[in-house]
Amino acid sequence: MTIEFADKVRRIPVYPAASAYAVEGDVAMLASNESPFRPLPEVVAAAQEAIAGAHRYPDPGSGGLRRALSDRYEVPAPRIAIGNGSCDLLLAAGETLLEPGAELVYAWPSFSIYPHLAAASGARAIQVPLDDRDGHDLERMLAEVNVATRLFIVCNPNNPTSTALPLADIAAAIARVPRHVCVSLDEAYCEFSVLDDPDSSLELLRDHPNLVLLRTFSKVYGLAGLRVGFGLCGSEDFRVAVDQVRQPFFCNAAAQAAALEALRHQDEVERRVTATIAARLELEEGLRELGIDPATSQANFVWFDLPAEREERDVVDGLARRGVLVRAGAALGREGALRVTVGTPTENRRFLSALAELT
Ligand SMILES: Cc1ncc(COP(=O)(O)O)c(C=O)c1O
Repeated sequence: MTIEFADKVRRIPVYPAASAYAVEGDVAMLASNESPFRPLPEVVAAAQEAIAGAHRYPDPGSGGLRRALSDRYEVPAPRIAIGNGSCDLLLAAGETLLEPGAELVYAWPSFSIYPHLAAASGARAIQVPLDDRDGHDLERMLAEVNVATRLFIVCNPNNPTSTALPLADIAAAIARVPRHVCVSLDEAYCEFSVLDDPDSSLELLRDHPNLVLLRTFSKVYGLAGLRVGFGLCGSEDFRVAVDQVRQPFFCNAAAQAAALEALRHQDEVERRVTATIAARLELEEGLRELGIDPATSQANFVWFDLPAEREERDVVDGLARRGVLVRAGAALGREGALRVTVGTPTENRRFLSALAELT
């Protein structure tokens, strides 16, 4: 006899994790949209100091980190939710908002964790196809909102397509979503966008108590391995609810300490953003020289369709054999496309010359 699991376990899609973790040696890790920059020595030292006190549980309220985030983003600390990565907040949002009979609306292809929310809760997922420029079709998404809708997710810039919408368009859409619906604006990559100042969405929180801006320390702050995300909320309700459904100590002490220290180095964040954008432009240019037309990226990765005669699997495997790991579009919602993280200039050149051999 085997263990009898809940039905949802059969429904929940397996997260398409990159294969990079099994690979050893000199590889260009361009599969997971991580930062190519290591944490600053001060950040590492802060985490180490926290580890020295690891016989104690971490602060369950992440008090120091929330106060620092409150200072940085000018959002009251009670309206800041912390997560074990922003994925943790997304899953907790699903748990608090969704149930059989409820609906959530999001674009597709978009972040691979979103389908998990409906599968885990028994809610209905309305996946609205991206428009022909790989952007969110906000009109069609709004048309799907009804009394059953509990969660409306906009991923801006969108993973995996790298495209972003101007904030003004998103603001106009949010204004049309009824107040009972939680709007989650997933801004994991917003710092890399040149369309709007990443701080401008904060203003929307004033008028929209149902809005949550989801941010993360995994990308621009370069702390993916420690797992810290945060939600800047239009009211306390979201933070209270997601705290209620999770275990008390969801953010470990080293992660809290490192994130707090990373926040103190905004000048370094800006330098890294500038370097990433410069490298992104070079990568896009390099692709165009190979006859490939990438989507206009506002993130730390690029997305493009492969020439029709090339098999996606052959190209991904060929790149891996040349020591370059990227993500196949099939796992992310569109076969025949590739998603490639902006790495160091050396990694980007290595990717481009490997791709040139394969296309
Ligand atoms: C759009 C988007 N949102 C959220 C996340 C989750 O990030 P984390 O859980 O590392 O904070 C990711 C990670 O890749 C992402 O692409």
